[in-house]
Amino acid sequence: MKVLVTGGAGFIGSNFIRFLVRNHPDCDVINLDKLTYAGNLENLSDLETVAQYRFVKGDIADKKLVGRVFQEAPDAVVNFAAESHVDRSILKADQFVKTNVLGIQVLLECARTAGTQRFIQVSTDEVYGSAASGETFSEESSMHPNSPYAASKAAADLLARAYYHTYGFPVIITRCTNNYGPYQFPEKLLPLMITNALADQPLPVYGDGYNVRDWIHVEDHCAALDRVLHQGRLGEIYNIGSHCEKTNLEMVKELLGILNKPQSLVRFVKDRPGHDRRYALNVSKIQRELGWRHQISLGDGLRQTVAWYSCHREWWERVKRGEYRKYYKKVYGRIS
Ligand SMILES: NC(=O)c1ccc[n+]([C@@H]2O[C@H](COP(=O)([O-])OP(=O)(O)OC[C@H]3O[C@@H](n4cnc5c(N)ncnc54)[C@H](O)[C@@H]3O)[C@@H](O)[C@H]2O)c1
Repeated sequence: MKVLVTGGAGFIGSNFIRFLVRNHPDCDVINLDKLTYAGNLENLSDLETVAQYRFVKGDIADKKLVGRVFQEAPDAVVNFAAESHVDRSILKADQFVKTNVLGIQVLLECARTAGTQRFIQVSTDEVYGSAASGETFSEESSMHPNSPYAASKAAADLLARAYYHTYGFPVIITRCTNNYGPYQFPEKLLPLMITNALADQPLPVYGDGYNVRDWIHVEDHCAALDRVLHQGRLGEIYNIGSHCEKTNLEMVKELLGILNKPQSLVRFVKDRPGHDRRYALNVSKIQRELGWRHQISLGDGLRQTVAWYSCHREWWERVKRGEYRKYYKKVYGRIS
């Protein structure tokens, strides 16, 4: 099987490529990534000499380039490529529309023309909007995206759905909760908090810290995507999550406990505009149909993640200084 992974130099994409290469030695992987600020080839440095894996630098919204990539006739596409940070979408939404909406349309069209057999659109629980206390969203729930990021992901889901209904193009959509784990860009909550705490810097927590998220280890998300890629029903949506709801403040306090750092590092800062209070999914469909269940408990996952950032200080210090690009300039020469 040949799989085109888009956005594979980012957090979840790089973990997913490593998962594919490890678990499917017969699977060839092409990684198409624009290498935005969030894309870092160092995340996949261990695969540089692996024959199964190949990197192509490019924008999913670039029709000509994407058309050329599809001449290699991938059997499947897993689309991670996106602008993914809510705060950035609030400051400037245009690139979110270009990549997350226009980009997926180009990908869908090229994949359809090339006769690709499976297209997995990696979406998010944020498309459902904020859940009231006790409420959970199923795949049938309507979308109420509240941030420009969530709205652009919802638009992508609708385009993917339309390609299935109009052309019978084999699309599956997944909607996962908040991921954590190795190689996450340290602007997102967990790596920001861990790296600040390791450097004895203040930990900025939005509002009262009581926003609730369901946290899943990235390895569990990758296993779920692998299950969907190989066994998911075409035209379906699958929610992915681990029923592990925590407030941001609980998460931060847990991290400080693991790191043995003082709670006085917490600083409450002005809340994010339109900040969704709670995300909560019903994930019984993927459990029932595909037999997937998360395997990593939050306690184990957090301890592993903290240990990873503690041991990879050079990685996150370079990322925080924006110096990681020097690494792939050195390795890949012409990539700028
Ligand atoms: N992080 C989460 O908790 C989470 C949860 C659910 C769903 N998702 C979705 O999973 C996907 C990956 O998320 P992530 O956290 O790994 O994001 P990320 O920001 O770490 O990585 C995104 C990757 O996409 C690449 N990219 C951006 N624009 C591109 C373009 N126009 N063409 C080609 N490549 C481009 C970037 O260079 C980067 O490598 C996103 O679609 C996101 O919406 C993320």
